[in-house]
Amino acid sequence: MSKTVGIITGSLRKNSFSESIAQYIKNHAPAGLEFKTIEISKLPLYNQDYDGADPKEYTIFRNEIQALDGVLFITPEHNRSIPAALKNALDVGSRPYGKNVWNGKPGAIISHSPGGIGGFGANHHLRQVLTFLNVLTLAQPEVYIGSYHTLVDEKGSLSNGDTKAFIDSFLSAFTSWIEKVS
Ligand code: FNR
Repeated sequence: MSKTVGIITGSLRKNSFSESIAQYIKNHAPAGLEFKTIEISKLPLYNQDYDGADPKEYTIFRNEIQALDGVLFITPEHNRSIPAALKNALDVGSRPYGKNVWNGKPGAIISHSPGGIGGFGANHHLRQVLTFLNVLTLAQPEVYIGSYHTLVDEKGSLSNGDTKAFIDSFLSAFTSWIEKVS
């Protein structure tokens, strides 16, 4: 039976590089994996006062995460860290205390940037948070995609052959990782 992996992108903007990478992955999913976009843009900013009387968006989101077999984060870097919307989603899923829906999920990270270091800072800040949330995050291959704007065609779709091949090999490693963790 195929496994469902949630894709969470750190970018909220239309036609983002994050979305471009997500599209490539959805169109090239390895056998046995199905990728599903998980929406984070409508989540109210986490407030501990909500615990026990949660906004409906929180309940829907937590149930969606709970049902996943794995989670793939595709994120840009904002000021050498992860975008606030992504941190908010991680916080929402981690609470109420003792009900962390991320717990034990296999995960992986792709960071990217138009700059040269491919979102390294975001990638490792995210890795730190995921360690605490007990997401079992794939260690290798690390994926930092730099100069992303040079790797796409005029429609913004990934077109660089080497990058496609690298993402394909990453997907193969992630598939094995999900099997191992499960
Ligand atoms: C950025 N960007 C950026 N890039 C980078 O390599 N390191 C950084 O620290 C930052 N910081 C940053 C802060 C904020 C608030 C914005 C809006 C942008 C640039 C960023 O990588 C670029 O806008 C990407 O295109 C964003 O990814 P999406 O939205 O295309 O997925």
